[in-house]
Amino acid sequence: MAARINTSLHNALSFLKPFNTPLNTKPFSFRRNSFRFSKKLPYYSQFSSGKRALYCTSSSQESTVDEGETFVLTTPLYYVNAPPHMGSAYTTIAADSIARFQRLLGKKVIFITGTDEHGEKIATSAAANGRNPPEHCDLISQSYRTLWKDLDIAYDKFIRTTDPKHEAIVKEFYARVFANGDIYRADYEGLYCVNCEEYKDEKELLENNCCPVHQMPCVARKEDNYFFALSKYQKPLEDILAQNPRFVQPSYRLNEVQSWIKSGLRDFSISRALVDWGIPVPDDDKQTIYVWFDALLGYISALTEDNKQQNLETAVSFGWPASLHLIGKDILRFHAVYWPAMLMSAGLELPKMVFGHGFLTKDGMKMGKSLGNTLEPFELVQKFGPDAVRYFFLREVEFGNDGDYSEDRFIKIVNAHLANTIGNLLNRTLGLLKKNCESTLVVDSTVAAEGVPLKDTVEKLVEKARTNYENLSLSSACEAVLEIGNAGNTYMDQRAPWFLFKQGGVSAEEAAKVLFRFPNCHSSYKTKDLLPI
Ligand code: MSP
Repeated sequence: MAARINTSLHNALSFLKPFNTPLNTKPFSFRRNSFRFSKKLPYYSQFSSGKRALYCTSSSQESTVDEGETFVLTTPLYYVNAPPHMGSAYTTIAADSIARFQRLLGKKVIFITGTDEHGEKIATSAAANGRNPPEHCDLISQSYRTLWKDLDIAYDKFIRTTDPKHEAIVKEFYARVFANGDIYRADYEGLYCVNCEEYKDEKELLENNCCPVHQMPCVARKEDNYFFALSKYQKPLEDILAQNPRFVQPSYRLNEVQSWIKSGLRDFSISRALVDWGIPVPDDDKQTIYVWFDALLGYISALTEDNKQQNLETAVSFGWPASLHLIGKDILRFHAVYWPAMLMSAGLELPKMVFGHGFLTKDGMKMGKSLGNTLEPFELVQKFGPDAVRYFFLREVEFGNDGDYSEDRFIKIVNAHLANTIGNLLNRTLGLLKKNCESTLVVDSTVAAEGVPLKDTVEKLVEKARTNYENLSLSSACEAVLEIGNAGNTYMDQRAPWFLFKQGGVSAEEAAKVLFRFPNCHSSYKTKDLLPI
């Protein structure tokens, strides 16, 4: 059966677009954190009903950006072995919704994303596609940017690890770690998963030395490499996690990290003799820097500004340490063990939090480029629009856990929540305004909702949404906003403004207030801003 989404949804949701998204229709002027009726209402002014115009004065507080507080959040830098799939989009959608919420709180947000372009995995996929690596990276990196645009992702920085400013910072960082005595040369022999770009412990492998994530056999490698002295940082890492258990979230991922560390940390190789496509090791151009030792630095090099000095110290001064690294659970060890140790070695501060979310799965298996069982985000967005896609995955998957996709479920959720609840509330409110009021409403928003029980309900639900956003419980944040929508619909049903409008006179004025009250029930946040779409 052909997929069908209630057609009123698209119209309704155009009113819910965030401040940075162009609107198709312009009945109201949208400002960053406020829901205001513009004095000039180009759309409504076309309807001259001959009735008295009502003017709305809105003195709702606008969140001001507190320049002192900066919230830096990152997505992983995506491998450019293949174009993005829905699994890669998931982290970025979540990050974008958190970034919007932090902006709403008035913070200066630096939302970093980008692409990870060096190493064996990328060189191999470029060759398999008959391209040279730079050409291949340009093409795939661009497909990520295109998808972010299609999904209404408003990142602040997009870093590519092939950018010369990044390469300079990696070399400088390497030199610092070297100067600290944490890099040495040795032979290494082990089993390597090219898709993970990681040497594996035999005990974590499946039958036939298969990687549990990619279900493909690891290859035996023997190399003369440079090593990072991770083992030196075992105790400092244990101490950090004991003192600050919130460093790794959710808490069950912290347990995982603590048990890795407890089982003993081994030094890891940070160069490759057999890989040309990478940043040369300083003072040894026969080796390139290991792709992870290179890519993690993207979180810092992204902070550089084009017209400023491109060095580590300057980059760090633009916003390091990051407030939040958002990652999938498969790359937790790199972010919660390797990365903090590397930073300590270089004398830099640690990020404040690493959150490892679960996987989008298909038939119970991680959806991935290497396994070839992906869901195409471009197709999904084209078919259903970005709002539906963003909303579904944030609402449906408990952030932190795995979640399966099914089209039936997608259509059911989007229709029930966005079309029938939020969309319906907006459409009926706007429809009545269009039919009965001339462009503007004379209602003072500071008092319009006073004494109305709905105000209390909404205040509580907004607090609920806010707490859930702060705790990164994104599905529960969506749920709280939905409850606001339900409360609004109930209020409309009870007050029946369509009936009051028909009565005219004082009743009609009361009807206009009913329409205005709902979006102004909370002094700081408007329902539309709290939805992650
Ligand atoms: N390049 C490294 C990250 C370096 S960060 C300095 C990498 N890239 S990746 O493209 O393979 O994965 C990027 C992110 O996408 C990871 O967080 C990974 O968990 C996430 N996802 C990839 N497939 C996914 C699902 N099926 N579901 C949810 N997220 C998944 O690792």
